[in-house]
Amino acid sequence: MPVARIDEVRDEVSAMAQSALNAQELMQRMVKLLHERMLKYNWVGFYLLEPGAQPPMLVLGAFEGAMTPHTRIPLHQGICGAAASSGQTVVVDDVNQDPRYLACSLETKSEIVVPVFAHGRVVGELDIDSHFAAAFTAEHQNLVQHCARLVGNKLETAAQ
Ligand code: SME
Repeated sequence: MPVARIDEVRDEVSAMAQSALNAQELMQRMVKLLHERMLKYNWVGFYLLEPGAQPPMLVLGAFEGAMTPHTRIPLHQGICGAAASSGQTVVVDDVNQDPRYLACSLETKSEIVVPVFAHGRVVGELDIDSHFAAAFTAEHQNLVQHCARLVGNKLETAAQ
């Protein structure tokens, strides 16, 4: 399959958000699509904040790629914890240079984590690992942020 153009995949996830019955279905279909179509997205998954957990905990949800040892991540750990606790996208071009990094696969070179917001609060995040250094350029950041927004919007719709 040819490398998908970013704008094609953007259109596909937007259509998926329209047709998905709920946020869970959207997340499952989205991780599959991104993993299949974006050749440098070697692990794609959602972590969701566990409702009511003290201390707050990120729990692995829908994902595509090899199983990770990190199925539960507290907010003070990892790049995942940094993104969820700050509410900011975190892009790491070389994970081996970042002391926060929790290793999932020895092949991973770069990572992006984008928080998912619903009703103005972080409820989870979309995490993508690449076997290629600095894979997440500005246009990729825009795509992944778009995906996270679609899931946040779907969660808000379901709650009404
Ligand atoms: N690398 C992440 C942990 C999750 S695995 O990549 C799937 C982190 O540093 O938080």
